[in-house]
Amino acid sequence: MVSSPEKQSFRIIVTTFSQTHLTDQLLAWFDQHHRDLPWRDAACGKRNPYRVWLAEIMLQQTTVTAVIPYYLNFLSKWPTVKAMAEAEDKDIMRAWAGLGYYARARNMVKCARFIADQCQGAFPRAAQDLLKLPGIGPYTAAAVSAIAFNGASAPVDGNVIRTLSRLYALDALMPKNKDQIQRKATALLPQDRSGDFAEALMDLGSQVCRPKNPDCQACPWIKSCQAYAGNVVLEFPKKAPKKLKPTRRGWAFWITRPNGHVLLEQRPPKGLLGRMMGLPSTPWEEDLASFDRAIKPFSASSCQACSGFIKHTFTHFHLELGIIQVSLEGDVEMAGVWVAPDDLETEALPSVMKKAIAHAQKS
Ligand code: ADE
Repeated sequence: MVSSPEKQSFRIIVTTFSQTHLTDQLLAWFDQHHRDLPWRDAACGKRNPYRVWLAEIMLQQTTVTAVIPYYLNFLSKWPTVKAMAEAEDKDIMRAWAGLGYYARARNMVKCARFIADQCQGAFPRAAQDLLKLPGIGPYTAAAVSAIAFNGASAPVDGNVIRTLSRLYALDALMPKNKDQIQRKATALLPQDRSGDFAEALMDLGSQVCRPKNPDCQACPWIKSCQAYAGNVVLEFPKKAPKKLKPTRRGWAFWITRPNGHVLLEQRPPKGLLGRMMGLPSTPWEEDLASFDRAIKPFSASSCQACSGFIKHTFTHFHLELGIIQVSLEGDVEMAGVWVAPDDLETEALPSVMKKAIAHAQKS
């Protein structure tokens, strides 16, 4: 059925009106309930792009609680993009250790150097220009543009997908629904408060429209939420069935010299935990090499397995790591660096290696 031009323009006016209404409701809620976070205006003065960008890079796949101490430490060590551009890679990796997803740190420094060298230290303002920089994907580009410059872009992450899927009861499966949600979020953008709008969506998703126990009574959109109206909030967002994560296994070696120093290796620059320090280990594979095979490079009498395995989960697999203590009798030359146990905490060690070291030390 083709509707008349009058009907169509009436529908556009009604839709636009209801979108504006939703936007106003969200911003009014944000004015009262926003979180005070260290990278936001109240804490750091008006819109500092370096701080906004630093926070957004750290917040990729990491919680606000985990990020705050790292963010504050980075800011005190490297208060400007120029300071970060001049930092040594190893100092950045050391300060990042424990935050995970280490490619983010490597790309972050590349990005800082690009901005310092090629952009006279000034961040691009538009999302499409930010997107060209290392480590900046669509979400971060939209968030930095909106929050730092009030650019008309709406960042869409898992929180926003969940909130808008519920608001509009969208049936499309995650992650295929991303484009549709991006259009919905963009249609809700206010005229002049894109930064607040972006932060409001983040706060609503994490504080109110939570995955498992949403606080619908506190939601500014309760009267418009289609999932709430149908009493099916927890059914959204619709998700494709999850693939099971495989488990990989390996042995890590706690190799000590007679003076108690421990051998650490730097991991290859590319790939998982790239450039981070760690205990030497066998490859991490589905089948665990036998203990006898793993200790082939050493004399059997110097090796002892710690009881149990440490467990760690990465994005794409679970890891079970057995630890073998190897006590060398002389100062054997081996590739890597020998570190006194008291100095281990100053090394760029990812969480999995911290766990492995703690296990070796308590055994
Ligand atoms: N998650 C991603 N970016 C965020 C921000 N700026 N504030 C709070 N949570 C976030």
